[in-house]
Amino acid sequence: MLQGKCIVLGVSGGIAAYKAAELLRLLVKSGAEAHVVMTRSAREFIAPLTFQTLSGNPVHTELFDLIQEQEIGHISLADRADLVLVAPATANLVGKVANGIADDLLTTTIMATRAKVLFAPAMNSNMWNNPVYRQNQAKLEDLGYHFIEPVYGDLACGWQGPGKLPDPQEIFNAAQVLLGSSELSGKTVLVTAGPTREELDPVRFLSNYSSGKMGYAIARAARNRGARVILVSGPVSLTEPAGVETVHVVSAQEMYRAVMEKAVQADVIIKAAAVADFRPVRRGEQKTKKGPAEAMTVELQRNPDILAELGRQKGHRILVGFAAETEELLKHAREKLTGKNLDMIVANDVTQEGAGFDGDTNIVRLLTADGKIEELPQMSKDLVAGLLLDRITALLPKG
Ligand code: CTP
Repeated sequence: MLQGKCIVLGVSGGIAAYKAAELLRLLVKSGAEAHVVMTRSAREFIAPLTFQTLSGNPVHTELFDLIQEQEIGHISLADRADLVLVAPATANLVGKVANGIADDLLTTTIMATRAKVLFAPAMNSNMWNNPVYRQNQAKLEDLGYHFIEPVYGDLACGWQGPGKLPDPQEIFNAAQVLLGSSELSGKTVLVTAGPTREELDPVRFLSNYSSGKMGYAIARAARNRGARVILVSGPVSLTEPAGVETVHVVSAQEMYRAVMEKAVQADVIIKAAAVADFRPVRRGEQKTKKGPAEAMTVELQRNPDILAELGRQKGHRILVGFAAETEELLKHAREKLTGKNLDMIVANDVTQEGAGFDGDTNIVRLLTADGKIEELPQMSKDLVAGLLLDRITALLPKG
């Protein structure tokens, strides 16, 4: 996806420097030509050889190294870059750049480049919140530099708080967005994700194990391909993807209304949500008391089948459903594909290890309306999302 792009990966000296190796692997895997520039302190945390082995290119460390200067030179590296990506970016590095200090190869490259620069800061939370740091970042943002915010978590210094380097995959995605991968530009993709909750009373509900991870991965992947993305999400504990219009809903009926309202704008609809098929006939106004009863019966009524309704009003839209099954996977998936008038269904056996609701991986088969079945091995949900969007892009009318 980043085929032929020249990316300078700057690594500055923080404990998260080891994660830059995984990021580099993702960049190289997606076809980018990557050149790593390390600061002196980064070399205290991880050896240049790791990056050299992964990138297949010499690692640049010194501003005035004659051999490196002759071979490529800091200016030519800055010139050739399509993107300078700094991960991790320390408070010191950001501070230097914000104040025009270029006293090593990395800061000089950043100063000399006309390419976009993306910083992925990682530091102690007090440093992150320090007004000096905040001013430096704000200044750089005003000047057009890009930042991917650190996440909340356990920090190496023993603190808990914001300052942790995001997952390498997230940084990779942000880089992709900046490099403007655009297969889906001009298209609107509507994605649903997560479970729905059907309330019994103010403190209880019926739901399922869906985590929303698959749907969120699809929303990010569609955004990364340049689409306008609307994500209708049930209750999940995931971060809203940046640059995506996220609509939060709770029940199947709310999801139905939100999806139907947004569907008219969509070119592609992907229904990864695990919608509850039934809801309680009555919702108690107050918490239901158990009383003396030994058993109780909850009467349920059918929820609207959102996907089937979309299938009835399909028009020109590409419609993709999910089938989470525990038995007779292909039979049930085929029934849903034809019964709901879909172009494609993503089938997974949720009882299989490495597939299904809560994990980070999935094992899926893609069934299309023309009768073809594509079986995919176990892979991360991000990769499944990317592949799924490749297949969907191929189904869209050309031009
Ligand atoms: N779906 C939906 N609205 C519902 C139920 C399901 O839009 N009320 C969508 C899901 O988002 C998914 C697909 O239909 O894309 C299949 O969902 P699934 O729960 O696997 O199947 P159901 O159609 O509900 O059938 P069953 O429960 O009998 O397996």
